[in-house]
Amino acid sequence: WGKEGHFMVCKIAEQYLTENTSRVVKELLPESAGGELAEVCSWADKVRFRMRWTSPLHYVNTPGVCTFKYSRDCFNSQGVKDMCVVGAINNYTAQLQSYGDSSTAYDLTQSLMFLAHFVGDVHQPLHAGFKDDEGGNTIVVHWYRRKTNLHHVWDVNMIETAMSDYYNKDLNVMIDSILKKIDQKEWSDEVNKWETCRRKTSTCATNYATESTSIACEYAYKDVEQDSVLTDEYFDSRLPVLEKRIAQGGVRLAAILNGLFDSSFSDS
Ligand code: ADE
Ligand code: ZN
Ligand code: ZN
Repeated sequence: WGKEGHFMVCKIAEQYLTENTSRVVKELLPESAGGELAEVCSWADKVRFRMRWTSPLHYVNTPGVCTFKYSRDCFNSQGVKDMCVVGAINNYTAQLQSYGDSSTAYDLTQSLMFLAHFVGDVHQPLHAGFKDDEGGNTIVVHWYRRKTNLHHVWDVNMIETAMSDYYNKDLNVMIDSILKKIDQKEWSDEVNKWETCRRKTSTCATNYATESTSIACEYAYKDVEQDSVLTDEYFDSRLPVLEKRIAQGGVRLAAILNGLFDSSFSDS
């Protein structure tokens, strides 16, 4: 996602943190955050070029298939295993488990900022897309009259268009609308399932990527080719999917943080 997408995921997550979790999160945040997780949710994008090894941690690619498989797909360009968005979520979650150990070797402020960002990214369907087109980055399309690429349509353009068409150009109005859908009948029946995951053979983050790859095929890539012109038909059918992914990212980020920092959640 772009800045707006990440801001929404973290702002939604903040609403679902328990008091205990919220206290720990505020303690770990850098001064510059002003006590707001959402303020630092794009930090990982800012350091992407300074810390070049982190660049592959924003996504994962499949070899042109609609299913994700960790052992096959999670590695960086040098073939180092676990260097993808799913491995990164597992890694930074594990690092944050050392919170409270006075001897922890990790900078948990950075771990938190990475985790919050990557949980957002793994919910962007094209961050678990195909290798050949770099998650839609090489698919040139027109978004209405503007030339862009399919990846950018999902990271940024659809959110911009939604804001100006439906949300009075105000990100907070869009966030409030998504929060309402989480609490009201729109999605409320499913929210419990979003929060818990059946991790028999894999981690929760693997499930999120599996969902993203499947949605990439069913919605993001569907009926799109090089030089496609995408307009109302694409926007109207895909925006609900995008909004649900933002909601799931926020709810799950909160669940992960509550599991880490609030002892009453210790076994989820
Ligand atoms: N950003 C840069 N490369 C990417 C890729 N291959 N897939 C998704 N997002 C990316
Ligand atoms: Zn992206
Ligand atoms: Zn990113």
